[in-house]
Amino acid sequence: MRYIRLGVNVDHVATVREARKTYEPDPVAAAVLAELGGADGITVHLRMDRRHIKERDLKLLKEIVKTRLNLEMAVTDEMLKIALTVKPHQVTLVPEREGEITTEGGLDVNSNVEKVTEIIDVLKREDIEVSIFVDPDPVQIKASKVAGADAIEIHTGIYAEARTHKDKEAELNRIFEAANLAKNIGLKVHAGHGLNYKNIIPLLKAPGLEEVNIGHSIIARAIFVGIERAVREMKEVINAYS
Ligand code: PXP
Repeated sequence: MRYIRLGVNVDHVATVREARKTYEPDPVAAAVLAELGGADGITVHLRMDRRHIKERDLKLLKEIVKTRLNLEMAVTDEMLKIALTVKPHQVTLVPEREGEITTEGGLDVNSNVEKVTEIIDVLKREDIEVSIFVDPDPVQIKASKVAGADAIEIHTGIYAEARTHKDKEAELNRIFEAANLAKNIGLKVHAGHGLNYKNIIPLLKAPGLEEVNIGHSIIARAIFVGIERAVREMKEVINAYS
């Protein structure tokens, strides 16, 4: 058995708060409870439109998170400045499109190697680990290595949404091949998007997998059973099948 870290994304807690533009529920309180439930890290996406997580959340999270704080952010100078002020343990570079419901697909590193390299250089000089959210595509994985990333987070959204067994298997194979390539060229392997208590099971055998980042399914379950228990149950699945 190997140890796979669980990063809990608490963005959805902030989404509920913003539904009323008030102070509750607080994603910072959610992070404390997620850690009590066994989370190995807390993940947040500070979006350019600040539709859920705000700078206030990020600053407080940096103070109170005892595990690892993973900041998902777009490749922009504004976000870089914030990351350098807050200094999370890890940054995950993600694409961002105005009006999207959630992150759609991985970052096109290959077409933006210069800019991505520049941002990674600055972050790494401050000892911030850098992961890049990419599709399970060899071209993007090799470009991530060239740009100097420490890790890639493989986008598992297509796998999660596949409707037939055949499509699921095909996408899982693509993910495993991508993970194998990343591992062989010296990149750490993370995965995330659309993972739940069931579809995560086969994914846990991906070569070199060290971290999964999960938001929606855990927060959805937390509404009924509480965050601590929802996180603990996901940890139990991960520990049982990895
Ligand atoms: N990883 C990345 C890079 C993401 O953008 C998201 C969604 O914010 C997640 C993981 C978590 O996805 P989900 O909420 O579907 O579990």
